[in-house]
Amino acid sequence: MAQKLRIYWCPVCETVAEILHGRSLELACCGLPMIRVDEKAADRGKEEHVPIVERTVAGTTVRVGDTPHPMDILHYVAWIEIVLEGKCYREFLKPGQRPLALFDVWSQDVVARAYCSVHGLWVGPAKAAFV
Ligand SMILES: [Fe+2]
Repeated sequence: MAQKLRIYWCPVCETVAEILHGRSLELACCGLPMIRVDEKAADRGKEEHVPIVERTVAGTTVRVGDTPHPMDILHYVAWIEIVLEGKCYREFLKPGQRPLALFDVWSQDVVARAYCSVHGLWVGPAKAAFV
């Protein structure tokens, strides 16, 4: 069963879809079932993908990688989002931008996710560091 905020990817056209409501058993695109994109929580490759969440006096900052993730035309962080208390905040990014988002949220209990155009969906630790 599909679950809220679960991400699906089309292997043909590379469309990404997110479940916001409902109980669809299967999503399809281009005549094929879409593939569920599971969250990864630990880096394995040479790039860093796990979102780093920091709470500051300015809000909540999420950056992707101590060494910033590439932001090239074919390989970039497409969005960064945080979820807390039933609300989802998302910033869409483009190649050339920094893999960073600042949200006007002052909670340490946020879940941060980042989506890499090549390596998929990543989730950060449950607690934000206060810096
Ligand atoms: Fe990546």
